[in-house]
Amino acid sequence: MPIVRVTRRLHFSAGHRLHNPKLSDDENREIYGLCNNPSGHGHNYGLEVTLRGEVDPKTGYVFDLKRLRELVERVVLADVDHANLNVDVPWMEGIIPTAENIAVQVWRRLADQLPAGMLERVVVSESERNLVEYRGE
Ligand code: NI
Repeated sequence: MPIVRVTRRLHFSAGHRLHNPKLSDDENREIYGLCNNPSGHGHNYGLEVTLRGEVDPKTGYVFDLKRLRELVERVVLADVDHANLNVDVPWMEGIIPTAENIAVQVWRRLADQLPAGMLERVVVSESERNLVEYRGE
Protein backbone atom coordinates (compact mmCIF):
# COMPACT_ATOMS: atom_id res chain seq x y z
CA MET A 1 0.00 0.00 0.00
CA PRO A 2 1.32 3.48 -0.77
CA ILE A 3 2.34 5.60 2.22
CA VAL A 4 1.22 9.21 1.84
CA ARG A 5 1.89 12.24 4.04
CA VAL A 6 -0.83 14.84 4.61
CA THR A 7 -0.36 18.26 6.21
CA ARG A 8 -2.73 20.71 7.84
CA ARG A 9 -1.57 24.31 8.20
CA LEU A 10 -2.98 26.48 11.01
CA HIS A 11 -2.28 29.80 12.69
CA PHE A 12 -2.51 31.30 16.13
CA SER A 13 -1.56 34.57 17.78
CA ALA A 14 0.16 34.57 21.13
CA GLY A 15 2.47 36.56 23.35
CA HIS A 16 5.61 35.40 25.09
CA ARG A 17 8.78 36.42 26.83
CA LEU A 18 11.96 34.39 26.51
CA HIS A 19 13.51 34.21 29.95
CA ASN A 20 15.28 31.44 31.83
CA PRO A 21 14.77 31.99 35.57
CA LYS A 22 17.87 29.88 36.29
CA LEU A 23 20.07 32.51 34.61
CA SER A 24 20.94 36.06 35.67
CA ASP A 25 19.16 39.04 34.13
CA ASP A 26 22.36 39.91 32.26
CA GLU A 27 22.70 36.42 30.81
CA ASN A 28 19.04 36.44 29.79
CA ARG A 29 19.48 39.76 27.99
CA GLU A 30 22.60 38.48 26.28
CA ILE A 31 20.94 35.26 25.06
CA TYR A 32 17.49 36.52 24.15
CA GLY A 33 18.01 40.22 23.37
CA LEU A 34 14.73 42.01 22.66
CA CYS A 35 12.83 38.74 23.19
CA ASN A 36 13.73 39.09 26.89
CA ASN A 37 11.85 42.41 27.26
CA PRO A 38 9.96 42.19 30.56
CA SER A 39 6.62 43.11 28.98
CA GLY A 40 6.88 40.42 26.32
CA HIS A 41 5.81 40.63 22.68
CA GLY A 42 3.55 38.83 20.25
CA HIS A 43 3.79 36.63 17.19
CA ASN A 44 1.43 35.37 14.55
CA TYR A 45 2.55 31.77 14.73
CA GLY A 46 2.28 29.27 11.93
CA LEU A 47 1.72 25.62 12.79
CA GLU A 48 1.94 22.65 10.41
CA VAL A 49 1.00 19.13 11.41
CA THR A 50 1.92 16.24 9.11
CA LEU A 51 0.51 12.73 9.41
CA ARG A 52 1.67 9.67 7.48
CA GLY A 53 -0.14 6.48 6.69
CA GLU A 54 -1.71 4.22 4.13
CA VAL A 55 -4.51 5.52 1.99
CA ASP A 56 -7.74 4.01 3.29
CA PRO A 57 -9.26 2.21 0.29
CA LYS A 58 -12.75 3.00 1.55
CA THR A 59 -12.36 6.80 1.90
CA GLY A 60 -9.29 7.53 -0.24
CA TYR A 61 -7.92 9.47 2.73
CA VAL A 62 -4.89 8.91 4.96
CA PHE A 63 -6.71 10.91 7.63
CA ASP A 64 -9.61 13.31 7.21
CA LEU A 65 -7.93 16.75 7.33
CA LYS A 66 -11.10 18.29 8.73
CA ARG A 67 -10.83 15.92 11.70
CA LEU A 68 -7.15 16.82 12.05
CA ARG A 69 -8.03 20.53 12.09
CA GLU A 70 -10.68 19.93 14.75
CA LEU A 71 -8.20 17.95 16.85
CA VAL A 72 -5.50 20.64 16.66
CA GLU A 73 -8.06 23.34 17.45
CA ARG A 74 -9.29 21.42 20.48
CA VAL A 75 -6.02 20.29 22.06
CA VAL A 76 -3.68 23.12 21.00
CA LEU A 77 -5.26 26.28 19.59
CA ALA A 78 -7.99 26.52 22.23
CA ASP A 79 -5.21 26.91 24.81
CA VAL A 80 -2.68 29.08 22.97
CA ASP A 81 -4.61 31.41 20.66
CA HIS A 82 -4.61 34.95 22.08
CA ALA A 83 -2.85 33.68 25.18
CA ASN A 84 0.34 34.60 26.98
CA LEU A 85 2.46 31.46 26.62
CA ASN A 86 4.36 32.22 29.83
CA VAL A 87 1.35 32.27 32.10
CA ASP A 88 -1.89 31.12 30.44
CA VAL A 89 -1.09 27.64 29.08
CA PRO A 90 -0.87 24.80 31.62
CA TRP A 91 1.17 22.55 29.30
CA MET A 92 3.79 25.28 28.76
CA GLU A 93 4.21 25.92 32.48
CA GLY A 94 7.88 26.06 33.49
CA ILE A 95 8.99 25.74 29.85
CA ILE A 96 10.80 28.56 28.01
CA PRO A 97 8.34 29.36 25.21
CA THR A 98 10.68 29.14 22.22
CA ALA A 99 9.34 27.75 18.95
CA GLU A 100 11.41 24.61 19.63
CA ASN A 101 9.72 23.96 22.97
CA ILE A 102 6.27 24.78 21.59
CA ALA A 103 6.82 22.23 18.79
CA VAL A 104 7.77 19.50 21.28
CA GLN A 105 4.78 20.19 23.52
CA VAL A 106 2.37 20.31 20.57
CA TRP A 107 3.76 16.96 19.39
CA ARG A 108 3.14 15.39 22.81
CA ARG A 109 -0.43 16.64 22.95
CA LEU A 110 -1.26 15.42 19.44
CA ALA A 111 0.58 12.08 19.63
CA ASP A 112 -1.68 11.06 22.54
CA GLN A 113 -4.78 11.54 20.41
CA LEU A 114 -3.68 9.95 17.12
CA PRO A 115 -3.15 6.34 16.00
CA ALA A 116 0.37 5.14 16.97
CA GLY A 117 3.09 6.07 14.48
CA MET A 118 0.88 8.36 12.44
CA LEU A 119 2.23 11.73 13.59
CA GLU A 120 5.18 12.56 11.35
CA ARG A 121 6.13 16.17 11.94
CA VAL A 122 5.18 19.37 13.76
CA VAL A 123 6.47 22.68 12.39
CA VAL A 124 6.19 25.96 14.32
CA SER A 125 7.09 29.32 12.80
CA GLU A 126 7.30 32.70 14.48
CA SER A 127 7.85 34.51 11.19
CA GLU A 128 8.15 33.85 7.48
CA ARG A 129 11.86 33.30 7.92
CA ASN A 130 12.18 31.01 10.93
CA LEU A 131 10.81 27.47 10.93
CA VAL A 132 11.30 24.89 13.66
CA GLU A 133 10.53 21.22 13.07
CA TYR A 134 10.07 18.33 15.52
CA ARG A 135 9.73 14.70 14.50
CA GLY A 136 9.39 13.04 17.89
CA GLU A 137 13.05 12.14 18.38
NI1 NI B 1 9.37 36.09 20.22
